Amino acid sequence: MRALLLKLSESKRLAPLIMKNGVSRRVARRFVAGETLDDAIEAARVLNSQGRSASLDLLGENVSNEAGARDAADGYVAMFNRIARENLNANVSLKLTQLGLDLSGSLCQELVEKIVAHATGLGNFVRIDMEGSAYTQRTVELTKRVRTRYTGVGTVMQAYLYRAEKDVQDLLSVGCRMRLCKGAYKEPPEIAFPEKADVDANYVKLMKLLLPSGIYHGIATHDPAMIQATKDFVREKNIGRDQFEFQMLYGIRTDMQKQLVREGYRLRIYIPFGTDWFPYFMRRLAERPANLAFFLRNLLPKSTRDAA
Ligand code: FDA
Repeated sequence: MRALLLKLSESKRLAPLIMKNGVSRRVARRFVAGETLDDAIEAARVLNSQGRSASLDLLGENVSNEAGARDAADGYVAMFNRIARENLNANVSLKLTQLGLDLSGSLCQELVEKIVAHATGLGNFVRIDMEGSAYTQRTVELTKRVRTRYTGVGTVMQAYLYRAEKDVQDLLSVGCRMRLCKGAYKEPPEIAFPEKADVDANYVKLMKLLLPSGIYHGIATHDPAMIQATKDFVREKNIGRDQFEFQMLYGIRTDMQKQLVREGYRLRIYIPFGTDWFPYFMRRLAERPANLAFFLRNLLPKSTRDAA
């Protein structure tokens, strides 16, 4: 089912059908803060008031023309200005295919540098999300190039990839901040661990490489076992709670989010917003059968639901 949903997340035909549907829109709102920057800013403001920082993500990937990529870059610059004006504790996450990586590496690099230069000037930070494995090498290389010129940039490592350990070492060598996650795309067993137990073991291994590095990293997961392993490790190694942060997705495991903040850990919430929410929504359904069941139950007419 996970593989099927991830495949469907790339469907250009299904996207408009799902996005028009009122039930999908309602269910998606659990994971997406809204369609406008105002919605995301409001969500960040609420989270800040509850002791959680934010990372805003303007949804959109695989743009097919240069104008779309330039528009997205302008959107990110405007987002940084708004964050500064509103004095929010928030940075930004973006995807390279939204900035034209499918069209031209040099266009994409030009736009990323423009955004990162702007963010660095404001004392802020750009996180380059990691997409499917077709983009891993280019994302690592582009991040390294930009990182040699600006401090305000980092990327994401996916623990399901066999190559992740080598990439972690490589990026640590240029002082790059990383977010560690398990990985959300459909990848073949030739390049990614197929079993959850192996992904989890690699996650813990990479966490132990990242956190003693003296660089500020993000431990992005909702998995209580990964969180506990991190807590145990930082206690054992005397790594301060201000030297790293946990990260979670908007709308997911809010109980654990509150608990971590109560315990005095730093926590950043990834806040996606925008009209192009279909692939993101499908990846969230794929992660958890209960999400899909909830969605399908709500698609049924109310009378059928009550009878079921
Ligand atoms: P796992 O999938 O094992 O889930 C553990 C538990 O968390 C579940 O039992 C459930 O309780 C809860 N949970 C997880 N997903 C849920 C969901 N969708 N709905 C409800 N509950 C859920 N991936 C990527 O490839 N590139 C990226 O750039 C990013 N960026 C990113 C940023 C941040 C801040 C986070 C938290 C995650 C990402 N991811 C990502 C997604 C990541 O790779 C992964 O798919 C999800 O975080 C789910 O993995 P967990 O670590 O939560 O564990």
